[in-house]
Amino acid sequence: MIKKLKLRNFNHSSEILKLLKTTGYENLGLVPTMGSLHKGHLKLIEKCSLNCDKTIVSIFVNPTQFSNKIDFANYPQSIRKDVETIRKTNPSAIIYTPSESDLYTAPAKAEIFDLDGVDKLIEGKHRKGHFQGVATIVKRLFEKFSPDYAFFGEKDYQQILVIKKLIKKYKLKVKIETIPTVREKNGLAMSSRNILLDKESRFDAKIIYESLCIVKRMVTKSGFDKIKDFINKLFLFNEHFNLEYFYIAESCSLKELESFNPKIKIRAFICVKVQGVRLIDNIALN
Ligand code: PAJ
Repeated sequence: MIKKLKLRNFNHSSEILKLLKTTGYENLGLVPTMGSLHKGHLKLIEKCSLNCDKTIVSIFVNPTQFSNKIDFANYPQSIRKDVETIRKTNPSAIIYTPSESDLYTAPAKAEIFDLDGVDKLIEGKHRKGHFQGVATIVKRLFEKFSPDYAFFGEKDYQQILVIKKLIKKYKLKVKIETIPTVREKNGLAMSSRNILLDKESRFDAKIIYESLCIVKRMVTKSGFDKIKDFINKLFLFNEHFNLEYFYIAESCSLKELESFNPKIKIRAFICVKVQGVRLIDNIALN
């Protein structure tokens, strides 16, 4: 009788390393996640599976990237469901679901990296230390598995720049691939946090992407002050939505800009709090 191979997730990186040693591969791809998977994550897993003959998906809610303890405690988790979802997308994906002790010695602490300040701007201004925590965990995952490729989404555009800077400064050998932001039907950027919203707020949160689309239409015709004023007023009139920030910045450096220059690629970045949930989004403006 042929025994059906029981696919499982791995809690220890050492088990994965053993498995990788026994099965040859040409390209190893890594998709780091914090779980509570949605279609954005699945697109990343699909892209990785198409481009690499071995795919590792990690699911780990990384404590060092949360400066707010309540936010960390409330972060949605659904490991069993996530494992099933990944299996449906790529049955042979290697799923890494570590406990904290497989990645950190207690107490978990972020390392300190010099990222030329790209971690201190925009989101980094409002979530102090966040990107140092992200860089810490991503570097550890890279060092553990030595992937040829790692996959990230533009929903977290600044995160991509931070990881690219980390790779360059610390001479890591992995190549980065990205995907555009995957959105719900109403335009809201998919996020694991969206399930924390009630139905009405989740629908109304379409205003975030709508506002970015309006900014994109305004950008060549209106001054940036006028655009910022428009965004401030829009959210002032929506009492359930609290604008935390809105920036227009150079796409490659994230430096804030005062006026439009067609020669410089720019993006808008927004963060809005709805029912206590932080939602971020961004859009290319030219
Ligand atoms: P997480 O928020 O789970 O996201 C994992 C990956 O999915 C990231 O690359 C993120 O940019 C991408 N992603 C999330 N929502 C997306 C969407 N709507 N469209 C496209 N891609 C999307 O980002 C993290 O986890 C963590 O910071 C991590 C990198 C895992 C380090 O802990």
